[in-house]
Amino acid sequence: MATHQPPPPPASENLQEDELIQEVGDDISSLPTAEGWLSHYQGFWIPTQRMHGVIATQKYFQAHENDILLATTPKVGTTWFKAILFALVNRVRYLNPQQHPLLTNNPHALLPYLEGELFMNKNEVPDLTHLTSPRLFATHLSYLSLPKSVKDSTCKIVSLCRNPKDTFVSLWHFENKVSALFGTKVPDTIEESFDNFCRGVSLYGPFWDHVLSYWKESLEKPQKVFFLKYEEMKEQPTTHLKRLAEFLGCSFSPEEEEKGRVNDIINLCSFNNLSKLEVNAKGNTAIFGVDNTSYFRQGEVGDWKNYLTVEMEEKCDRVTEEKFHTAGLKF
Ligand code: A3P
Repeated sequence: MATHQPPPPPASENLQEDELIQEVGDDISSLPTAEGWLSHYQGFWIPTQRMHGVIATQKYFQAHENDILLATTPKVGTTWFKAILFALVNRVRYLNPQQHPLLTNNPHALLPYLEGELFMNKNEVPDLTHLTSPRLFATHLSYLSLPKSVKDSTCKIVSLCRNPKDTFVSLWHFENKVSALFGTKVPDTIEESFDNFCRGVSLYGPFWDHVLSYWKESLEKPQKVFFLKYEEMKEQPTTHLKRLAEFLGCSFSPEEEEKGRVNDIINLCSFNNLSKLEVNAKGNTAIFGVDNTSYFRQGEVGDWKNYLTVEMEEKCDRVTEEKFHTAGLKF
């Protein structure tokens, strides 16, 4: 394990609340803010209430060599890929399809966010030693903000992205749904929200910079960062699931392929299947009291056409072209 950070305080030993808040909290209040709930940190707009978790993650999370980290900007299919990664990596443990944990748990409950659930507790650093290997985590942090031990170790990163117009529409629906719960203010009109998104002021935005941070790293270190588009997975799930398995060092054997294990995972994790399960249709157990249904809306490509005007489409395409062109990334 390649780690160069000072060891974290033992998880079992509770820190005095004041101690940890003081250690990680000093920077937070001085950060620039927007919309009353976002803080600008290392080039990205992060919910202020998550900032403690972000800084604690950077400071204390120690990657293991075989950890797997799902890295996404919100609304690009994180929930889907949490399910896929969990099912893929644990496929030998859960051979009985009737007893699979995804049937009774929302994917977010099986694969936690580092800076979200795990490092949010202001009183202690979490004890992750009991987790089975390979450990699976998720993050909405950009590559630039990942803990040093993640970058230095051989742990793998799976990065998913999505067409910016569909991402925006998905985000707009989601924020309108959960704003009351978090007490966050959303703009009155979709146009205003869209302008904010295009100028980079959005949840973990700028969207384009976030995506680019992983895209560039995937070009430089293809053995470390696997980069995939939501649309590609929708179109050719079998091909990409097999590529993902190979990248993670858990390729499907010919026997598994013959027995239909690739399709089993695709079907188990499909929008149709997951969204209809009782736990996802009714529960709110996943994170911070958000209804599990909020993570399943349509799951389609191209829904933006029902919401954006031609001017909005052109504006978004212009920003995408400007930001992605030289990096060779196309949508
Ligand atoms: P829409 O709002 O366009 O329907 P995230 O998980 O990153 O928050 O992204 C949520 C988006 O992924 C939503 O998009 C949601 O419907 C879609 N989604 C959730 N589960 C999915 C699945 N199993 N397959 C495809 N898309 C899925």
